Amino acid sequence: MAKNEVRRIGILTGGGDCPGLNAVIRAVAKSALSEDATVFGIEDGFEGFVEGKIRELGNNDVSGILSLGGTILGSSNKGDPFHYPVKDKDGNIKIIDESERVLRNYKRWGLDAVVAIGGDGTMHICDQLSQLGINIVGVPKTIDNDLAATDVTFGYDSALYVATEAIDRLHTTASSHHRVMIIEVMGRYAGWIALGAGLAGGADIILIPEIPFTWESIYKKVRERSLHGKRFSIICVAEGAKPKGGELVVKEIDVKRTDAKRLGGIGDLVGHKISTDTDLETRVTILGHLQRGGSPTPFDRILATKYGAHACELVVQGKFGRMVALNGTKIVSVPIKKAIAEQRLVPPDCQEILAARAVGTSFGDE
Ligand code: F6P
Repeated sequence: MAKNEVRRIGILTGGGDCPGLNAVIRAVAKSALSEDATVFGIEDGFEGFVEGKIRELGNNDVSGILSLGGTILGSSNKGDPFHYPVKDKDGNIKIIDESERVLRNYKRWGLDAVVAIGGDGTMHICDQLSQLGINIVGVPKTIDNDLAATDVTFGYDSALYVATEAIDRLHTTASSHHRVMIIEVMGRYAGWIALGAGLAGGADIILIPEIPFTWESIYKKVRERSLHGKRFSIICVAEGAKPKGGELVVKEIDVKRTDAKRLGGIGDLVGHKISTDTDLETRVTILGHLQRGGSPTPFDRILATKYGAHACELVVQGKFGRMVALNGTKIVSVPIKKAIAEQRLVPPDCQEILAARAVGTSFGDE
């Protein structure tokens, strides 16, 4: 580490949490501590960077956290320094640019570099902070798996595990009661979780944002199954799925977030339409934050550890403004700009979709 004179490294976790964050924190901190660097945890993501919340991390702080869900540092998806919510004297929220405070804290704390673990929102912020002169390395996290320039983000596999298990459980009760069971999963504007869990769980219909559906196509599929003696159906719907020509279903608008839209509710709409337009009994399960909680899978623990160790190496080499990424089986690094250039959506002709169609899964579009 001395070769680059990077002595003081900050770590932060930004945006929504997911399993594997602690595994990355552990990997970055242990690698850096073994090089005699001093490691700091910035608390509550970028909010802590603005507000000046930091603590030193020693070996004891990062020991025993590999399998722990969440983040020991805390996180926030309302702390974008360039879109920072503050209350005015009347109690109204106004959005201001607080990036200067981040720069001040970075200098005041004497940091040489920051490893920021987060999704696309975090990487956008990292890119802007790089331009202000902060030495930053990104680590791609999100259950949504929607970051470009990496084959996979950590957290996705753990979310898939939870969603697949939920579909397995719905299968048995769906078949006992001859019902149409709808499960709504997260993923924002990308259908990776719905596609992966739907495929792994053998859903009969998978609805994703990248393939707008028609109500008729869904009714046809569930009716066909009934006619063929399959008296139940499982529909896995991504929170960002929408009917052809229709709108996203938004649960809440929260101006404190950079992307103000909180998605959710399409599952209930699908359940309501099927039960009113067919004579089939439906039930809806919203999986929600269960997908983000709990221990990371072995795949995510390994990926997170490799990402964290490589992020520390980049810091040592003075390669800033870059994000670690998975390319096939190798950990590489890419400019952060490349990771935010576009969102990684499901290509409608990808192998997973073709395989699902081949085994009779409907995407509500035929
Ligand atoms: O980006 C991760 C994610 O879980 C999305 O899948 C979901 O739309 C969103 O975060 C939920 O955010 P919150 O935790 O603020 O409800």
